[in-house]
Amino acid sequence: MDKFIIEGPVRLEGTVSASGAKNAVLPLMAASLLTSGVSTISNVPGLRDVRTFMMLLDMLGAKCELVDDLLTIDTTRIHSIVAPYDHVKKMRASVYVLGPLLAFKGESLVSLPGGCAWGPRPVNLHIEGMKALGAEIDVTEGYIHATSRGKRLSGGSYRFEPSSVGATCNVMMSAVLADGVTELQNCAIEPEVTQLVEALIDAGAKIEGAGTTTLKIEGVESLNPINQRVIPDRIEAGTFLTAAAMTRGDVTVENCCPDHMTALLDILKAMGCDIEITEDSVRCSISGKPTPVEVVTHPYPGFATDMQAQVMAVASVADGTSHITETIYPDRFTHAAELCRLGAEIRIDGAIATIDGVDVLNGAPVMATDLRASAAMVLAGFTANGETSIERVYHIDRGYERIEEKLAALGGVIRRVNE
Ligand code: UD1
Repeated sequence: MDKFIIEGPVRLEGTVSASGAKNAVLPLMAASLLTSGVSTISNVPGLRDVRTFMMLLDMLGAKCELVDDLLTIDTTRIHSIVAPYDHVKKMRASVYVLGPLLAFKGESLVSLPGGCAWGPRPVNLHIEGMKALGAEIDVTEGYIHATSRGKRLSGGSYRFEPSSVGATCNVMMSAVLADGVTELQNCAIEPEVTQLVEALIDAGAKIEGAGTTTLKIEGVESLNPINQRVIPDRIEAGTFLTAAAMTRGDVTVENCCPDHMTALLDILKAMGCDIEITEDSVRCSISGKPTPVEVVTHPYPGFATDMQAQVMAVASVADGTSHITETIYPDRFTHAAELCRLGAEIRIDGAIATIDGVDVLNGAPVMATDLRASAAMVLAGFTANGETSIERVYHIDRGYERIEEKLAALGGVIRRVNE
């Protein structure tokens, strides 16, 4: 298993380019199952999750090819409607094939994803939303079995409560080929969801309300293949900006979309960072210790739960006490104990973390517990005195493309070792 060895402290400075967004490319890949033909997706990041999803599509009968950042998916010979447990347990987003297979093939059988490192992650809204559109769904022996009873889904109305990225994408994909009209309320409006809406419209779907919380979908008989360029990864970009705040550095992220990061940029400014924005780049620099902050995670356009761990790392070396309230996943704090191994002072009380900033962190062996938690540990390693080794970096490979190369180019002393 690979681990990272990091030598600190360093000051990260320079320019880095954002890759395509993991959370945008996965639903686009699933949407290719709504058509028979060759879909083309560009600016695809070379991530483990992308390869895992390609394997799943191949198992269903598709032919996927990733050359550089261009992914082609040929769905002319789909012969299976089954996403087995062995696959879904590797990547929860596999559940995205449920809606498209149901809509296009009239049936799908997808393993229940189960929980993850920071607690339960239900899919009840995916199931209830599809039922509201006329699907018959049974959950037995760990599998979701959905059918449209030999005809097209009828369409219908459904309100997501709470707002859910995955359920909005999945139910919308099941609605685009329905024989009727669907109204979805309280939809997630994360940029990755909006990209899917736009991709489906581009392929011939009739959807009103892109970028808003209410989507009206008039089902069509067929769609053209998907043809999209993946939007920049706002979480990867945000992680590099946070790395500048963490190391008192000066980092410019190019090829990003600053409009997608407003809530994070507000927090970084509140922490004392200087932020310079152009149309497609953000520069973050700071001199001196970060200022403590109050952070509450919310669905987009609020502060993203996927940036919570990284900001906690910065808060751990701030000049005073910060609080972080996690409203999306109340138990998503596994990184706190690992940060404490480096000398951070963090207390968790329910969904609230209290972080007393310390003067120095010291290197130690730590564990990556999930994707974003691992990013927080890498940032902390750059600030800590001496050597920090991070085990289980397969988590980070799920969502960050060539992260050690990108960080080394900013001056990070980081190497991957295989043990
Ligand atoms: C997506 C992102 C993930 C991010 C999360 C929240 C992808 C591949 N993953 O995950 O990186 O952390 O959004 O921004 O895009 N919920 C239910 N029932 C459901 C579905 C969700 O109660 O059927 C709840 C969840 O427990 C959570 C909230 O809704 O409290 C939001 O979760 P959701 O937006 O669905 O997260 P994912 O789509 O799984």
